[in-house]
Amino acid sequence: MTSLEYAPAPETTKPQIREHYGLFVAGNWVAPQSERYFDTVDPSNENVLAKVAYAGAADVDRAVRSARKAYEKYWSKMKPAERAKYVFRIARAITERSRELAVLETMNGGKPIKESRDFDIPTSAAHFFYYAGWADKLEWAMRAGREARPIGVCGQIVPWNFPLLMAAWKIAPALACGNTVVLKPAETTPLTALALAQIVQEADLPPGTVNVLTGDGATGAALVEHPDVDKIAFTGSTEVGKAIRRAIAGKKKRLTLELGGKAAHIVFDDAPMDQAVEGIVNGIYFNQGHVCCAGSRLLVQENVHDEIVVRLTERLQTLRLGDPLDKNTDIGAVNSKAQLDKIRELVRSGIDQGATLVQQSCALPERGYYFPASFFTGVQQSHRIAREEIFGPVLSILTFRTPDEAIEKANNTPYGLSAGIWTDKGSKNMYVAERMRAGVVWCNTFNLFDPSSPFGGYRESGFGREGGVHGLREYLAH
Ligand code: NAI
Ligand code: MG
Repeated sequence: MTSLEYAPAPETTKPQIREHYGLFVAGNWVAPQSERYFDTVDPSNENVLAKVAYAGAADVDRAVRSARKAYEKYWSKMKPAERAKYVFRIARAITERSRELAVLETMNGGKPIKESRDFDIPTSAAHFFYYAGWADKLEWAMRAGREARPIGVCGQIVPWNFPLLMAAWKIAPALACGNTVVLKPAETTPLTALALAQIVQEADLPPGTVNVLTGDGATGAALVEHPDVDKIAFTGSTEVGKAIRRAIAGKKKRLTLELGGKAAHIVFDDAPMDQAVEGIVNGIYFNQGHVCCAGSRLLVQENVHDEIVVRLTERLQTLRLGDPLDKNTDIGAVNSKAQLDKIRELVRSGIDQGATLVQQSCALPERGYYFPASFFTGVQQSHRIAREEIFGPVLSILTFRTPDEAIEKANNTPYGLSAGIWTDKGSKNMYVAERMRAGVVWCNTFNLFDPSSPFGGYRESGFGREGGVHGLREYLAH
């Protein structure tokens, strides 16, 4: 412990949170036909923030019908340059309300304010800005001579780790192409999606162009199964991704799936070590490790293993865990009790299977869901912590001797979302990068995002791309 402690520096911007939220359907806030509401909490202290409507199958049907009507009557008929103005308007509103949205995202999800403020919200706005620019240039995304046509009504189901950003990734390209949307946010993090619905309302989009239905997995399943939905875009667990694929098999419905990952993060002995260690920390501890592309399997060259472990052990002690609204916080709250239980269970399995656990030593807040930044040494390829997605601040460290061994170990996973490589040697970087079976490969950096750059996976990490012209094409008819 250092003697110079930071004073607390909590964010003071107060977001507007209503006591009750209805569903956002056809441009209005409506009571759920299910007549059910559920609590949404702040995972950092377990306080209830609001009551949120639960959308049942009848509500899903109403939202899909409103999206269909908006599609036929207004949105697909609108001149593309006009459509762009609305999408720009959403982008500007997110920017104008960025402070409030950042606080809301942090309160509802548990992530540190510095991340929601500097990453989630600006990147969400950036996606709307980027795709607004495409709306009147869609022909350029097509092969010569082919017409750019929208698909229709899109059902979009997003997870809780980047609630607003995942909504932005999905809604922005859908709207730019002339589709209408029914968005289903995750059960634990509905508030920024509902704030986005307010923004859509204020931006005066034609009623029904964007609908937001809060609910749980059954709500999502009803959206997947609705016969009048033309496309499903899903981000979440591999298990649910597989269920969705089975549910729509043989039907005329487009699908993109962005699922889990167990990314290899490879560090060679000639890597710039200071930067590599920061890259490892960013790769696994960003957003408490609730990141599908997290660098959760660290592969280090054997001769630098001990040095890296020493440096990481020291670095762990400097990470600050606590109130997510504090500007100094590096590790915030785990998103939910269920996720905390899952992390604990997998960490226990790592210890039981013989790996060695190293953790930051700090007191955890008494209320709320917290897990200290951790890593395991002595991990075997066969251990569960080397194979399964932990989705928490827990790194598994393995070793290799040659580039080919690193490649073989990196690809020894059912997943294939991202990978990272650290080496000073350009040719080695390229040699390894082109052999990674992963959708995104970061070289001498990690977790870098830009709306113009496509993101997505291979194998059990799903298919389809989000971002860039590739992400745009997922919302255009073939
Ligand atoms: P999940 O896949 O159950 O939830 C993601 C979204 O899908 C939520 O909006 C949920 O309501 C919805 N959903 C759930 N069941 C559905 C169904 N049958 N049909 C349609 N929609 C459905 O993920 P969960 O249970 O929250 O987390 C479990 C694990 O999944 C995590 O521990 C993590 O390993 C992984 N995960 C991966 C994510 C990623 O970004 N790839 C995001 C969230 C979770
Ligand atoms: Mg689930």
